[in-house]
Amino acid sequence: MSTENVAVIGLQWGDEGKGKVVDALAKACRYVVRFCGGANAGHTVNVAGERFALHLIPCGILHEDVCNVVGNGVVFDPVVALEEIRGLRERGVSIGPENLAVSQAAHVVMPWHKLQDTLSERSLGRGKIGTTARGIGPCYADKANRSTAIRVGDLAQPDVLREKVLHVADIRNRIFAAVYGAEPMDAEEVSEEYAECGRQLAGMIRDTGRMLRRAIHRRERILFEGGQGSMLDIDHGTYPFVTSSSVTACGVPSGAGVPPAAVGQVVGVVKAYCSRVGSGPFPTEQANPIGDRLRERGREYGTTTGRPRRCGWLDTFALRYTADLSGVTELALSLLDVLTGLEELKVCTGYRVAGRAADAFAPDLMADAECTYQTLPGWQRSVSDCRAFDELPAEAQQYVRCVSELVGRPVGVISVGPDRQQTIVYQTKVRGLA
Ligand code: IMP
Repeated sequence: MSTENVAVIGLQWGDEGKGKVVDALAKACRYVVRFCGGANAGHTVNVAGERFALHLIPCGILHEDVCNVVGNGVVFDPVVALEEIRGLRERGVSIGPENLAVSQAAHVVMPWHKLQDTLSERSLGRGKIGTTARGIGPCYADKANRSTAIRVGDLAQPDVLREKVLHVADIRNRIFAAVYGAEPMDAEEVSEEYAECGRQLAGMIRDTGRMLRRAIHRRERILFEGGQGSMLDIDHGTYPFVTSSSVTACGVPSGAGVPPAAVGQVVGVVKAYCSRVGSGPFPTEQANPIGDRLRERGREYGTTTGRPRRCGWLDTFALRYTADLSGVTELALSLLDVLTGLEELKVCTGYRVAGRAADAFAPDLMADAECTYQTLPGWQRSVSDCRAFDELPAEAQQYVRCVSELVGRPVGVISVGPDRQQTIVYQTKVRGLA
């Protein structure tokens, strides 16, 4: 089995800059596969000064000869996907069955999922999760519920689809009216709209698991594109302030339909500081001018929702945990340039809980953690034009080495700006990144 396959996983709370790493690697791969999440993801890729924001379509779409796969583990919003496809086509990207396949077993995000996401968040008030309102949680809930689920394969069978839509819409309309006093949805209209989506996606709906397992036998290289970040994982993150899918490398086999050994190298993408959108614990958060500065310099506003992100120092105590969880083989350190100009930098190395040093990390510690910091000198000279490690200011080199040591992983590449060329190749062993 080929161990050349590679997974790109976010090790924080999402928005680590995975899109740029996936984009760089895609050219050396035959398949780029999404295996988790849905339109809650937002990957920004800059190509020749043009900015592409992708939510559902894998980043490999910007490369010729790459087959892009939306795996069974994804919750697929066909309305968003078709809008994204239209937008990309308008900008000259060709998309069709030859370069995009959507799993027939992926679950469909329906209008009632989005509505429920919004209504339920609204009713939670201050206790809300802070979701992206994309219907992600309710759709995964229906997946687990089975009898109220609709899968992508159903979109291609209008009669089956209509029957399911009428059944589920009737249940939802009654619940929404009783619980939230909401207006009913027109089931016939929904059924027709989604059948039309099915017609437009027709040639792209495939058994993608089988496709990928065949590719593995043929030794064609696969890139697994993570969504969100490990601390948002449904099982291993800061529950309940998480998303609803398995976003670490542990989620790749079931979310793509491939055997565990098919995941070869794992690149853990780490932003040089931390950000988080939505509610939940964030021990290194800087709700002060330092956090404001990171937000402005890092343009930390959600790609999907436009919400300002909470910002803070890097947390290597948590990173060691998420790197272990995914079996990370090397790190990609992103947005190093955002730290330029700060007098000094802090890196969290451990937690104290109830006055005692925690001997091991667990997400549940985060809510009451007091951080232990190592302080490092900052640098003032811009790093955006550096293209080799030794061109970086000595303090920036020290910062990178310190992160690598504390997380216990080599740093493969360092990103010093949004463009493809603004990358320093450092210790990578991943073909295509060098
Ligand atoms: P949901 O995935 O929309 O249900 O949102 C659950 C939590 O995950 C919220 O805190 C969101 O802000 C967060 N989240 C979901 N997707 C992303 C992402 O791609 N980047 C950053 N945060 C995300």
